[in-house]
Amino acid sequence: MTSVAERIASSATASTAHSLATTTCDTDLAEPTWVFDALPTYGPGASVADPIPAETPNATRRPGQLPLAYQKMSEEELHARIVAAKEAMGDRLVILGHYYQRDEIVAYADFVGDSFQLANAALTRPDAEAIVFCGVHFMAETADILAREDQHVILPNLAAGCSMADMADEESVEAAWEELAEVYGFDPAQEIDAGWFERNPGVKLPVIPVTYMNSNAALKAFCGRHGGIVCTSSNARTVLEWAFERGERVLFFPDQHLGRNTAKAMGVPLTQMPMWNPRKDLGGNTEADLDAARVILWHGFCSVHKRFTTAQIDAARAAHPDVQVVVHPECPMPVVDAADAAGSTELIRRFVADAAPGSTIAIGTEVNMVNRLAAQHPDKTIFCLDPVICPCSTMYRIHPGYLAWTLDGLVQGEWRNEIHVDPDVATHARIALERMLAAAPQPLTGGAR
Ligand code: 13P
Ligand code: SF4
Repeated sequence: MTSVAERIASSATASTAHSLATTTCDTDLAEPTWVFDALPTYGPGASVADPIPAETPNATRRPGQLPLAYQKMSEEELHARIVAAKEAMGDRLVILGHYYQRDEIVAYADFVGDSFQLANAALTRPDAEAIVFCGVHFMAETADILAREDQHVILPNLAAGCSMADMADEESVEAAWEELAEVYGFDPAQEIDAGWFERNPGVKLPVIPVTYMNSNAALKAFCGRHGGIVCTSSNARTVLEWAFERGERVLFFPDQHLGRNTAKAMGVPLTQMPMWNPRKDLGGNTEADLDAARVILWHGFCSVHKRFTTAQIDAARAAHPDVQVVVHPECPMPVVDAADAAGSTELIRRFVADAAPGSTIAIGTEVNMVNRLAAQHPDKTIFCLDPVICPCSTMYRIHPGYLAWTLDGLVQGEWRNEIHVDPDVATHARIALERMLAAAPQPLTGGAR
């Protein structure tokens, strides 16, 4: 299979750049990772505001600082180093790879899955003192929150953030909370501890904060302190049901699309889902809008999934009348409505696996995952709805060079790029994560590649 990296590289040199194989959403992606890492921004997915814990020992503080020796290493040399380090570490190391990682990284992962499965996967390897998370920052933070205290979580490139997660920061959410407290008449400082709902059965709070897993640890802690909960794309509906049992309405952040698509499928009218723009008073709403609201949607989105359109679905149906279209719920509502199915990364994986041989499936999610599914199911025709090669550019920042460098560090007894969530933040974030685990326990699927 031609990897996404190879296709991007060939697009940079191709003179006719208008077919599926030769166009990319961002020509910077054709450069080696450390070259575009050094740019202040490089298009969609740049994650300049992603917080790096100040006390992280031995951290590479900014992108673009992979030691030169590793930048110059050949693929073969990097491969040899990674394999040797894995062997030397044995059971003391587990490498986790998100479905959106490039193939050159997935090849070394002990476990591949979605963000929730990977956070759990870490718990299934109690002997592992090092959890190397090949994904993005919020995923590694979540693994650190759920891991034992003596386990160390490593993110090979600290610049692998998530532009959507960056769209909701603690200060803006706290400010929104204070405005909502005034409208709904509650004390914004009131803490709702882990056992509060059990001690107050039947009492409904005016608003329950719900954060998507794609958010920083401080926002998960905010939810933990205020009677809120975390959700993933695979359990958003169950989590919203949990929230409606305990509150009059929900403040959902950062992804407006996941919130809207999920609430709409539950029958909440669009008129009761105002958008909260953090740069406007009352989020750009009137008090009457907020009084009627059932779900207040934060003004956030995924730059990768926002690219999918109904025109692409129309084109896929015109070219392949028997095509089935499956998309991620981070896509805009008209796209989800026009698709045959919508669901999490894991649902998409199962949708493809369960389809009959000979099926044609168009997928609206990250291209590395789509291409891998196509390679794994040669008996089916599988393609990405978006004709432009557009990987998640922050996931793409995890390159074998960074993996080799962090693994070599482990062998030498050095924790390079360790993610360490502040213990107080972790305690509160764990409350919100544990509410989710209790409301929506998920079987651990995914697996070794
Ligand atoms: P999952 O939670 O399905 O892994 O998705 C994470 C993500 O970033 C999707 O864009
Ligand atoms: Fe974030 Fe979108 Fe990338 Fe997922 S695909 S990590 S939501 S930028």
